[in-house]
Amino acid sequence: MGKCVECGAWNSFVEERAAPDAAPGNAANNRYAQFSTSTTAKLYAEVETANAVRLSSGIGEFDRVLGGGIVPGSLVLLGGEPGIGKSTLLLQAAAHFAAHIGPVLYASGEESEHQIKSRGDRLGVGAAPLYLLSETCIERILEEIARLKPALVVVDSVQTVFSMKFQSAPGSIGQVREAATQFLFAAKGQNIPTVLVGHVTKDGNLAGPKALEHVVDTVLYFEGERHHSHRVIRAIKNRFGAVSELGVFEMTGAGLRPVANPSRLFLSERASGTPGSAVLCCVEGSRPILVEVQALVSTSTYGNARRMAIGIDQNRLALLLAVLEKRAGLSLAGDDVYVNIAGGMSIEEPAADLSVVAAVASSVRNRGLSPATAVFGEVGLSGEIRGIPQASLRIREAVQMGFSRVVLPATNVEPGAADTTAEGQDCELIGVRTVGEALDQLIA
Ligand code: TYD
Ligand code: MG
Repeated sequence: MGKCVECGAWNSFVEERAAPDAAPGNAANNRYAQFSTSTTAKLYAEVETANAVRLSSGIGEFDRVLGGGIVPGSLVLLGGEPGIGKSTLLLQAAAHFAAHIGPVLYASGEESEHQIKSRGDRLGVGAAPLYLLSETCIERILEEIARLKPALVVVDSVQTVFSMKFQSAPGSIGQVREAATQFLFAAKGQNIPTVLVGHVTKDGNLAGPKALEHVVDTVLYFEGERHHSHRVIRAIKNRFGAVSELGVFEMTGAGLRPVANPSRLFLSERASGTPGSAVLCCVEGSRPILVEVQALVSTSTYGNARRMAIGIDQNRLALLLAVLEKRAGLSLAGDDVYVNIAGGMSIEEPAADLSVVAAVASSVRNRGLSPATAVFGEVGLSGEIRGIPQASLRIREAVQMGFSRVVLPATNVEPGAADTTAEGQDCELIGVRTVGEALDQLIA
């Protein structure tokens, strides 16, 4: 078949040989039968609460995205573009694990032992019991796992390994799914935490079926611009912790270094007081981060006004510009509008709205915002400013970073609204209800 009747993609069909021993109804022959247990259903109240043991990778920011460390028996998928630092991070984590917790098996289908070793020398991997295995056959890797009984397994990458049960090439849908399932059984069966490295395709999705994300316990994405030295790891799914949790790293000559204070990093190159720049307090997972939102509005020369957004959703920008035109009387029809989140961060939460609006208006009027002012809030279609969650967390971060004035939704400072007033003692809190009010406060 050339075209998939379901998704419409061309040439996406892959030939797979049915596993010969998976005859239906034959429990003895079923290769998954060994993983089945013979327990009966239990009463909820009788099930003991498992003590959530967490094993530290020794890299604080990595532990944070995992929800406080890696859970024994969990299967973690680490995705990211080539060259972003997946192998580097995992080698660093593996070295720490080997030194402090137990032996580690690092199976690589991408690099030889010598290549890994020369990288390890640069990262300062010592004499810890770290086993390297340059192997792409799943069955061989599983044999080594059974032999070594490691405390952690790393498979780099899930697209390079293959099972002898299938004829299709490594990286094909059948092979990737088989690899994930086999390593899942190994992880659960022997209680060994396992990290799989996954490549992402050009459009930013994990290569291989979506099924991969359903099989594993935790999905982490490595993000960042290759031209910038900092990297961000984001939890997309986590059965053992909060999602959208964020870890920030810096790529240095000696590997990835955790960044404990990302706000400082993201604001480090801010030219304070220039028009078109606003400081936003956003919250990623449980962590508040200050970032600079930049906007540039210039007269369009080609008649067809351009609107470009980097780091925020393009449609969201279009919506906010429409609100600015209609509710704040700003005329943008003949102008190009560019919006950028400095430092390559990407932000999805609506709390960023007010900062985008402020940056655009500041650029239009060619007047800078006060450098000591931070801002957050959602903008509605009728120009109203809507309250957003975790206001006190954001204010605290702004105060810590030396901001003395925060413009925020009025509902967040009303009596009875969370504990914002306590946080705001060292800082002037200005609650606003409409876009017009906000702009009056921000751009005098
Ligand atoms: P790598 O971990 O190989 O990426 P991935 O496994 O995601 O494909 O990262 C490679 C990049 O990181 C490479 O461009 C060089 C850079 N790097 C450093 O800057 N410093 C280092 O100490 C190391 C090991 C790599
Ligand atoms: Mg790699």
